[in-house]
Amino acid sequence: MTLRIYVPKDACAIACGADEVVEAIQAAALARRQPVEIIRNGSRGMLWLEPLVEVVTPEGRIGYGPVGAEDVESLFAAGFQEGGAHALRIGKPEEHPFMAKQTRLTFARCGIIDPASYSDYRAHGGYKGLERALALGPVEIIEEVKKSGLRGRGGAGFPTAIKWKTVADAKADRKYIVCNADEGDSGTFADRMIMEGDPFELIEGMTIAGIAVGATKGYVYTRSEYPHAIWAMEKAIAAARAHGMLGVNIAGSQYSFDMEVRMGAGAYVCGEETALLDSLEGKRGTVRAKPPLPAHKGLFQKPTVINNVLSLTAVPHILADGGEFYANFGMGRSRGTMPIQIAGNIKYGGLFETAFGIPLGELINDIGGGTATGKPVKAAQVGGPLGAYVPTWQFDLPFDYEAFAAKDALIGHGGIVVFDEDADMKKMARFAMEFCSVESCGKCTPCRIGSTRGVELMDRIIAGERVEANLATLTDLCQTMKLGSLCALGGFTPYPVLSAMTHFPEEFGAPRRLEAAE
Ligand SMILES: Cc1cc2nc3c(=O)[nH]c(=O)nc-3n(C[C@H](O)[C@H](O)[C@H](O)COP(=O)(O)O)c2cc1C
Ligand code: SF4
Repeated sequence: MTLRIYVPKDACAIACGADEVVEAIQAAALARRQPVEIIRNGSRGMLWLEPLVEVVTPEGRIGYGPVGAEDVESLFAAGFQEGGAHALRIGKPEEHPFMAKQTRLTFARCGIIDPASYSDYRAHGGYKGLERALALGPVEIIEEVKKSGLRGRGGAGFPTAIKWKTVADAKADRKYIVCNADEGDSGTFADRMIMEGDPFELIEGMTIAGIAVGATKGYVYTRSEYPHAIWAMEKAIAAARAHGMLGVNIAGSQYSFDMEVRMGAGAYVCGEETALLDSLEGKRGTVRAKPPLPAHKGLFQKPTVINNVLSLTAVPHILADGGEFYANFGMGRSRGTMPIQIAGNIKYGGLFETAFGIPLGELINDIGGGTATGKPVKAAQVGGPLGAYVPTWQFDLPFDYEAFAAKDALIGHGGIVVFDEDADMKKMARFAMEFCSVESCGKCTPCRIGSTRGVELMDRIIAGERVEANLATLTDLCQTMKLGSLCALGGFTPYPVLSAMTHFPEEFGAPRRLEAAE
């Protein structure tokens, strides 16, 4: 009987040696004259277990991880073909506590299906959302998205239905759907994982968006550092086209929509929606002044929906199960689930999808298991390089846009980067300014000049020069950048800087204030 084995083709798994594991399994099977079929799935998201190899047995799929090529002989010897005992055996992946605690909607299929297989996607509920969308038509699709309470997952949390309605109402001969898959935030990998592990879901989401607003062409803008995601997306797009799910008269309907993948060089600012549009048009990625909004004049000056990968991949579920079903998850104005990415100095890092509202500390300490170094956690930066450092005494913060904003923090794209007690907060603050100075598009003065002055000020503070005066100037500079920058790159760089200063004042040579220690 042919042995069926899943080995992820996810970039993280490959970086950890998945391709070598495949070769070792093939060689070991050949030596035993054991026919074997190896399916290259996406990652389940338990990244510390990659490469996570799964063997199909009569009891279900049994996982072993992290598997190195050197482990393969011992796995065969232990009878892993039948799910045999071995030090690397983790049992059924879906029963692992990291997985069992999650509410997976967007990531429900990731790691389970063969991402290259159209029929596997359909067999696992794929295209149910599009089928319903075709039956509903544009107005009701947008109504369903409105009911779901979906807010953009790229960082700003803007209501998706409002964006779509604006584009739907715009009069133009051409409209576009642009998927923002630039994923430049530190500690984030959910967009990449879904493109590698369930690319049809993004195709389905973009197709529904196209029908809703009257767009016939879509672009996925991603970075050159994501070759595996690009490969998976292009393979899936070709398969969807071959099955009549992209192109003219999708699934025999009156609607037409097609899409392609475009690659940027990886500048952080090219994730900002208007710089992204410039880059997509073949220009240098520079932020555009708003108005006009991209919804009115976007790609090639035509009305354009720009949404993050996670916003678009939530859509098939919203349509399949109904907006109200999706809105049942979450808290306050943060509805649905969020694929949270736990990274940095963390024991069990990975992708954890759950309803909004989970406390930050639970994600880091209970689910993530604390730091990988075993030292006490000091702080976590949430929401990418422009996100605040959240100290441990604020770890009861629920994962919610408004709760984070109330503490001058942000959720962003849902990335958490954990630091232990050795983190030097002065260096972190300096890094934020340096990052901004390197990545600034240069269009506005507070960001272009301010970030460079910020680095200089931090260097003086670190050297112990006129600390009090330089801290005052730095605070003033941060205010100018916050209020005067054209986009959030310059406007949010002060948040990590000020949070480090506020929560860890003693490291900056200032006394700890009572409210900072609360
Ligand atoms: C400097 C900068 C970088 C950004 N990078 C990304 C990114 O990598 N991915 C993303 O989806 N949004 C990014 N954004 C947010 C986008 O400008 C925009 O809000 C988003 O694509 C809208 O999609 P959504 O409504 O689905 O979130 C960035 C914003 C700024 C200011
Ligand atoms: S804030 Fe920075 S990145 Fe944004 S427009 Fe100004 S110079 Fe460009």
